[in-house]
Amino acid sequence: MESDFWQQRWREQRIGWHQPKVNAWLREYWASLELPPGSRVFVPLCGKSLDMLWLVRQGHEVVGVELSPLVLAAFCEEQGLQAEQQEEERFVRHHAQCIHLLEGDFFHLRPSDLGKVQGVWDRAALVALPEPMRGEYARHLASLLDPGTQVLLVTMEYPAGEMEGPPFSVSAAEVQEIFGGAFHVKLLETGDMLAGNPSLRERGLNRLVEQVWQLRRF
Ligand SMILES: C[S@@+](CC[C@H](N)C(=O)[O-])C[C@H]1O[C@@H](n2cnc3c(N)ncnc32)[C@H](O)[C@@H]1O
Repeated sequence: MESDFWQQRWREQRIGWHQPKVNAWLREYWASLELPPGSRVFVPLCGKSLDMLWLVRQGHEVVGVELSPLVLAAFCEEQGLQAEQQEEERFVRHHAQCIHLLEGDFFHLRPSDLGKVQGVWDRAALVALPEPMRGEYARHLASLLDPGTQVLLVTMEYPAGEMEGPPFSVSAAEVQEIFGGAFHVKLLETGDMLAGNPSLRERGLNRLVEQVWQLRRF
């Protein structure tokens, strides 16, 4: 998806992906990554996800990247964060307490923009991208991470043709294919999510499962 697509969705507040609560998979599986206290966590394509605040409450520093300046301003205002802004070469950095929000394009990130991260939370990031971009997303993510870095990834799968993404259906085979060259890939859980997603049912879905993955960079 192009930048304009997302900017327009935010301007029109058509943000059906935004969850008013912390993601249940994150709560359930984050501890299984066994990250050291104080470690830094990367949240790609972060939007204004409340998951970032939960991660801070678990003792992490969080660094998110998001295209839209509107979103980052809204996040800071809604959460009462007084962010300092700093112009960097490729990003504007909004920094408040333990959260760094990088305004700019994920695909322009370099490891030095993130600092050393030990964990990644990907919910609605990979699945926000169409198939031709997902391999590049996985390669670029791998290029930003040191060996040993752990990723908790949520994907979704639904019958081809029932809905146009985003969110896109991503098969287990595709997860293996795009991440398997740089990560150990482990499926943690598969859950039927149709009942909890009335808006996706209205868009035509008759089946929807989410899969939770633990990836470890090697
Ligand atoms: C589907 S939303 C998910 C947001 C968040 N992960 C959540 O769970 O609420 C995808 C977000 O990624 C942002 N985005 C899309 N492409 C991006 C890119 N190349 N770099 C940074 N952010 C991007 C969009 O503006 C949008 O806020």
